[in-house]
Amino acid sequence: MGFRAPFFFAALFLSLSATIISSASADGEAEAGSGLVMNFYKDTCPQAEEIITEQVKLLYKRHKNTAFSWLRNIFHDCAVQSCDASLLLDSTRRDLSEKETDRSFGMRNFRYLDTIKEAVERECPGVVSCSDILVLSARDGVVALGGPYIPLKTGRRDGRRSRADVIEEYLPDHNESMSVVLERFAKMGIDTPGVVALLGSHSVGRTHCVKLVHRLYPEVDPALNPDHVEHMLYKCPDPIPDPKAVQYVRNDRGTPMIFDNNYYRNLLDNKGLLLVDHQLVVDKRTKPYVKKMAKNQNYFFKEFARALTILSENNPLTGDQGEIRRQCNMANKHH
Ligand code: HEM
Ligand SMILES: *[C@@H]1O[C@H](CO)[C@@H](O)[C@H](O)[C@H]1NC(C)=O
Repeated sequence: MGFRAPFFFAALFLSLSATIISSASADGEAEAGSGLVMNFYKDTCPQAEEIITEQVKLLYKRHKNTAFSWLRNIFHDCAVQSCDASLLLDSTRRDLSEKETDRSFGMRNFRYLDTIKEAVERECPGVVSCSDILVLSARDGVVALGGPYIPLKTGRRDGRRSRADVIEEYLPDHNESMSVVLERFAKMGIDTPGVVALLGSHSVGRTHCVKLVHRLYPEVDPALNPDHVEHMLYKCPDPIPDPKAVQYVRNDRGTPMIFDNNYYRNLLDNKGLLLVDHQLVVDKRTKPYVKKMAKNQNYFFKEFARALTILSENNPLTGDQGEIRRQCNMANKHH
């Protein structure tokens, strides 16, 4: 270092003061851009994050699969125009719920999100948004599953309307082409390694046979590993699955309950379940990242943290936009 050190520190000081000045000029503490900040509730509900973390741990102890749901929620809420908890709204006479659309197929555990909200409301009624609870529960769910701790900002407010009418323009289908997938994530500012990392969420949880039978019947997709085909046929014995029988295949047979990079090794083994999963190892743009993440879990975690942060800050409602919902499944009533 030698003579470079003073210059380095001067530059650091300058950039730090620039950051402080620019955020101070925005509005109090809010940072220019998203309007979200770390620990938004530190004065209005100091216990909020702790209560959420504790509830996620308690629920995870009783029902391990709640953590899969918190993780899937952040994608299904934030990628559809805004992280505004619109996902959680029930159908009304006017609007169909996002939860009832085909893209939300298989989503579960919403009632336990109400459990978390109720615990937060007991401490600070009417202060903490459902969208922040949704995002923080995803953060804590990832930790419960053995993934990295990813600090995320708060200060989101809740939307008042379902976005079911546009959901298909934002959430890719299970068989979407990689070009469409990459394009949709790019619109949120998430690059190719970010997309590859986010799909690593399919290292946990399950996929129902309805989303898989097209790769098995009438003919087996020759791209599938024959060993895996045997297992998939055993789990999905009917070309048209009985909607009442809950038939599914675990996303990662090796370590189904752990958020790890085994997903990428499965992909390289042609054991990716969904067509989009498999496309990650076929497409030239994504394959190099699959290989790198399969080899290096730290790299996977680093890219995942970066991409999840961007996803969690997608176009939030802040300030006096939206509302703080009393109950996560319905908008507040106005008199
Ligand atoms: C191209 C993008 C994506 C597509 C097409 C997609 C599609 C799917 C499908 C079809 C399922 C199976 C649902 C079922 O049958 O129950 C699933 C499960 C899941 N997805 Fe995705 N997904 C995508 C991206 C993501 C992202 C970005 C995340 C999280 C950040 C995520 C998290 C999950 C989780 C955790 C599950 C397991 C849920 C459970 O077991 O309850 N997915 N996904
Ligand atoms: C994707 O699968 C759905 C059924 O889930 C089907 O209706 C649709 O045509 C398929 N799309 C493509 C591009 O194959």
